Amino acid sequence: MDHHQTPLFTALQQHAARDPLQFHIPGHKKGKGTDPEFRAFLGDNTLSIDLINIVPLDDLHQPAGVIREAEQLAADAFGADYTLFSVQGTTGAIMTMLMSVCSPGDKIILPRNAHKSILSAVIFAGAIPVWVEPEKDERLGIEHGVALASIRQAIERKPDVKAVLLINPTYYGTSIDLLQMVELIHSYDIPVLVDEAHGTLLHFHDQFPMSAMQAGADMAATSVHKLGGSLTQSSVLNVKGNRVNIKRIRTFMSMLTTTSTSYLLLASLDAARRQLALYGQSLAEQTIRLAQDTRRQINEIPGLYCYGDEICEKEGVFHYDPTKLCIHLEQLPISGFAAEQWLRETNNIEVELSDLSNILCLITIGDTEREVERLLQALRRLSETFRLGEKAVPRVPVAVPTASRFLLSPREAFYTRSESLDLDQSCERVCTEFIYVYPPGIPVLMPGQMITREIIDYIKRHVEAGLPVKGSEDSTLQKIKVIVDGAQQHEATRPKGRYVIPD
Ligand SMILES: Cc1ncc(COP(=O)(O)O)c(C=O)c1O
Repeated sequence: MDHHQTPLFTALQQHAARDPLQFHIPGHKKGKGTDPEFRAFLGDNTLSIDLINIVPLDDLHQPAGVIREAEQLAADAFGADYTLFSVQGTTGAIMTMLMSVCSPGDKIILPRNAHKSILSAVIFAGAIPVWVEPEKDERLGIEHGVALASIRQAIERKPDVKAVLLINPTYYGTSIDLLQMVELIHSYDIPVLVDEAHGTLLHFHDQFPMSAMQAGADMAATSVHKLGGSLTQSSVLNVKGNRVNIKRIRTFMSMLTTTSTSYLLLASLDAARRQLALYGQSLAEQTIRLAQDTRRQINEIPGLYCYGDEICEKEGVFHYDPTKLCIHLEQLPISGFAAEQWLRETNNIEVELSDLSNILCLITIGDTEREVERLLQALRRLSETFRLGEKAVPRVPVAVPTASRFLLSPREAFYTRSESLDLDQSCERVCTEFIYVYPPGIPVLMPGQMITREIIDYIKRHVEAGLPVKGSEDSTLQKIKVIVDGAQQHEATRPKGRYVIPD
């Protein structure tokens, strides 16, 4: 295929150049109706291709023209049979994947560190999660992938699962042996869905972990906007093989997508695909080199540790994405969140995320030595400012609590009568909301889950450290919503039926 072509982006430019008289939305009509300051800031080029699904520009809901061609080129670039563009981020693509394989009451194997978009999909689909614990990294206070043995065990326990969903790579950049995992799951003839939000570049360089499509997964939701150079909110859903039904997948994608699809987002996917297909390997090569050099220099800074090759010796880690710099504040007496704030306030640097023990910095195809040098200088100052002299105190990271028992399916709990309780008094009650630290957006509590003292303490430590704990209707997290007492008893003693949670 000719990856120099950008069928959709080119069609938009040609359409704008023809300058047709427009009697359709968007009402700003090529920017003339836009707020003048905003128009001047964006520029008329941008506004001239902010168009909608008129006939010459095809329709994402049933692509048959330039969008279809752009998606076919993307499928070729990502090694998929089909690629579907998403203007609803990877969140939309994940919901599509899950809902296209799970009907209400169907079981699906999920890692417990699943992103909130996966849990939302579980509620919408009425699916029953079969949880698998990811491997914990006690030193770094983060979680990696799931072990092969854990997935095998979960399938043997619940052989009627409709799919297995995996996260690869994790937000913090580690990956499992996806090839072996896919082979195992396929040996039971079960489809593999991959949350590949953080893996756009994987396919384009062999120093990265293997991409989901290379490993033979059936579907993968990939945030091109995160690391592949397209505009925020634009992602792809890659599909391969015949264990899944492409027509049903398209139907769900359409159901979950706005009818007013943004052509700016779609065109940015088309252009990003061109760049990745033509230059992805060399861009990735430069980025990896830059990141590895930065990693080496970070590891020379007293008090900081940025994992590298040695991470592959840990359980649940087969490989890692070297462009993700997970900087562990091993011997500094401050939290990751405090370091993030310090970098913002004193150095005008924004990081990707922070937690109690780490900050995560991403080196991408948009970075050069200049940016990296500024980061290194700031990190050296951070170390000098906060180091406790020669005898630094090693920090004890707080591991995410192991998932407590689920008494109801997330969907049932979400729709069951609830009441608000003080967080401290909610122990042993069943939660009806999502509580997660964002980023990374991994729920600590989900609807249907029993609240434990360990989880309450975990939440409180994060709130005290100032980390963004979100999801609760009470944004101060003094209160939490739980199933009303009677309902909890009623649901828990119901005869075992199709809604009973697998143990
Ligand atoms: C692991 C994971 N999955 C899915 C998503 C959702 O991606 P998007 O923001 O493109 O909707 C994210 C977002 O950060 C994520 O970290």
